Amino acid sequence: MSLKDLTAKNIFLHKPYIPGKQPSNFEQTIKLNTNENPYPPSPRISKSILKQIDALARYPNSSADSLRLTIAKLHNVDVGQVIVGNGSDDILNLCVRCFSDYSKSIGMFDPSYSLYEVLGSMQGVEVKKFAFSDPKFEIEPEIISQSGTNLFFLTSPHAPSGRIYNNSIFSSALHQYSGILVIDEAYADFAPFNALSMLNESKRVIITRTLSKSYSLAGLRVGYALASSGIISILNKVREVYNVDRLAQHIAEIALNDREYFEKTKSNILSVRENTHQIFTKWNWKTYESGANFLFTQPIDSRGLFGEEIALNLFNFLSANNVLIRYFPSNPLTSSFLRISIGKQEEMDMLLNLISKWKTTDQQM
Ligand SMILES: Cc1ncc(COP(=O)(O)O)c(C=O)c1O
Repeated sequence: MSLKDLTAKNIFLHKPYIPGKQPSNFEQTIKLNTNENPYPPSPRISKSILKQIDALARYPNSSADSLRLTIAKLHNVDVGQVIVGNGSDDILNLCVRCFSDYSKSIGMFDPSYSLYEVLGSMQGVEVKKFAFSDPKFEIEPEIISQSGTNLFFLTSPHAPSGRIYNNSIFSSALHQYSGILVIDEAYADFAPFNALSMLNESKRVIITRTLSKSYSLAGLRVGYALASSGIISILNKVREVYNVDRLAQHIAEIALNDREYFEKTKSNILSVRENTHQIFTKWNWKTYESGANFLFTQPIDSRGLFGEEIALNLFNFLSANNVLIRYFPSNPLTSSFLRISIGKQEEMDMLLNLISKWKTTDQQM
């Protein structure tokens, strides 16, 4: 028998997730392509980490009790309403494992975080993608309620546009829909408000969060979900027993408790986001109001033109100059835009200088 015959059919046909480029040489690259935090994590971490090394001989606490307690206190929920994962991707995967099967399909808006579709494909279940009907990426609760799905993923703030949604949208979605609604709040710390109050409205809502963005810990891989205790118990059934390692639990707890550092780095990012947005606006580049640590903008070239070719041209020009950003060509709502993560002010200044050069010359890439 060939390996093809031996492989589960859905896995053979499966197309894995393609992450943004991760260059090995950080020093020579301005990395604005995967919405990481440009600042290092809390300085308290390095001071306390060595003491943990000897303890690595032992397995970690399998339910991450102390970390879950910290998260529960932070959000004022019961510890039974918290589950932690190896990044929020791990949690999203648990949602798919638990709440979808051959008769229980998954729904998502397109474009949003493409991993939802990848996870559904791994599970061998139907994923229904609903195209946003307007360029404002407005969520229509009726689409969710009439989707015929069992599990629906929403990204809020939206990716890749960064736009924020009022809780009234989630409220009406939850009232009309009878399935499980996941609100992926990977970027919510950078937004003026969040959907945590939805936890009081329904036992069918799951809010996912990550330490990868606002806590500068993308390399550590810690995320979590908040939901009703009933949902958390179900997710725990399929969670890998030691899904968050000992060091990750320890470091995540320190980072979450260093509120001063969190607020300081966040406010730096918000002010750099504002400065950069103002410059794009001055250039007449259509740019979405962002509640995230990135901006989604439509570049205009030296001839005053915009569109798919122009966006690709600038993307290539910046890559050739070691500045990595993100381009999403496959969707008409995104193909004339570029997504740019917010870096330090000096990184954004270098980016803006390069773009100014590109804007004033005819670049043939
Ligand atoms: C919308 C969204 N959700 C989840 C994630 C995954 O985060 P994590 O690093 O916690 O797995 C990302 C990462 O870019 C994201 O953009």
